[in-house]
Amino acid sequence: MTAEERLLLHGQEHVLKRLDGLSAEEREELTVRLAAIDWEELEQWKRPLSSLERGQISPIAGLKAQEIAARREEFFRVGAEAIRAGKVAAVLLAGGQGTRLGSPAPKGMFDIGLTRPRYIFEQLISNLLSVVKETGAYVPLYIMTSEKNDGETRAFFEEHDFFGYPAEEIKFFVQDMAPSVDFEGKLLFEGRGRLALSPNGNGGWYSSMQRAGLAADMARRGVEWINVFAVDNVLQRIADPIFVGATILSGLMSGAKVVRKCDPHERVGVLCLEDGLPSVVEYYELTEEMANARLEDGTLAYSFGVILNYLFNAKRLGEIAAEKIPVHVVKKKVPYMSEGGELISPQTENGYKFETLILDMVRLMGSCLPFEVEREREFAPVKNRTGVDSVDTARELLQKNGVEL
Ligand code: UTP
Repeated sequence: MTAEERLLLHGQEHVLKRLDGLSAEEREELTVRLAAIDWEELEQWKRPLSSLERGQISPIAGLKAQEIAARREEFFRVGAEAIRAGKVAAVLLAGGQGTRLGSPAPKGMFDIGLTRPRYIFEQLISNLLSVVKETGAYVPLYIMTSEKNDGETRAFFEEHDFFGYPAEEIKFFVQDMAPSVDFEGKLLFEGRGRLALSPNGNGGWYSSMQRAGLAADMARRGVEWINVFAVDNVLQRIADPIFVGATILSGLMSGAKVVRKCDPHERVGVLCLEDGLPSVVEYYELTEEMANARLEDGTLAYSFGVILNYLFNAKRLGEIAAEKIPVHVVKKKVPYMSEGGELISPQTENGYKFETLILDMVRLMGSCLPFEVEREREFAPVKNRTGVDSVDTARELLQKNGVEL
């Protein structure tokens, strides 16, 4: 099938019209982008994933904070040994657009300091350095950026001497981009010949690492466990030896740091079992009955809120790499250029983006250990400027934990 036929088949006549009016260079660039489109995935705008497709949900057993405290030394010993043997790597997910924070720069460059600069990236590296201090070994760090923020992110790290982390232990890679479509499934453009592209969600980290040759790099280094974490939780422990040790000793294929839900309706995704496999159920998918269900010990049955800090078994990741992870079709406001050449920033949702989510990988891993951490000590996400999960709340929590701002 020719490229033209393919566009017609998928109802993209408007793209053909655009191609006609482009310079040779623009046309070349657009042709390359079009060739990379996964049409099957794009067609999913017609049938978005819905909660109706959920399997049988049941509670999952996990390690509670008290049990972790009791076995702390044992877990630490095993985890620290793995880190010293070079078996643990960390992956920082920094490809998001941070729209809620509303800063044009990459989120990690946001300064949360009060009396001196304290950048989010700096705080994360400092958290990792505390593990280096405890174990006496550096953890290789891979940083995922997107086409939109890669240059700025790399330059920022260089400018700040990698915040004291050895440069040779840090590698960057760029995540894949996905096109957006309008409500009729037509590809949106952000420029005359440029498709409206955005990062394809945080579930794309492993395939993007593979494409960049970094999954092979990890294998060469003998990495057996990968700690993947979000850019915005400034309090989290990274490559936490206790978490690593507990997951290794559990014999399971992954681990997830979780915080205990403070009330049955808190807006966090909870880890549970779905048809016997680990899965994350969003708060809006929980029925009233499930939200209030209690275990024999009186605690909420669905109380392990995920905080986007996972440990994955590298071998198992390799095995499931070929399996397709579900694509979520999400309604968004997508800025675009009209056919008349006018740039439009819509005030309401006008199209769909296609995203894969890391939480769907947990299911593919086959098994997962929920590992409870204390919210006040390990969970301070910077999502918004003010209010819930904001710069303000994160600052307060950092200070409570003795970080000078
Ligand atoms: P969020 O889901 O909070 O998205 O990302 P975001 O883009 O940072 O912020 P909003 O929703 O636009 O305000 C959770 C984590 O996943 C990363 C983010 O950088 C963050 O660490 N992420 C998200 C990616 O790396 N790539 C993506 O495509 C999306």
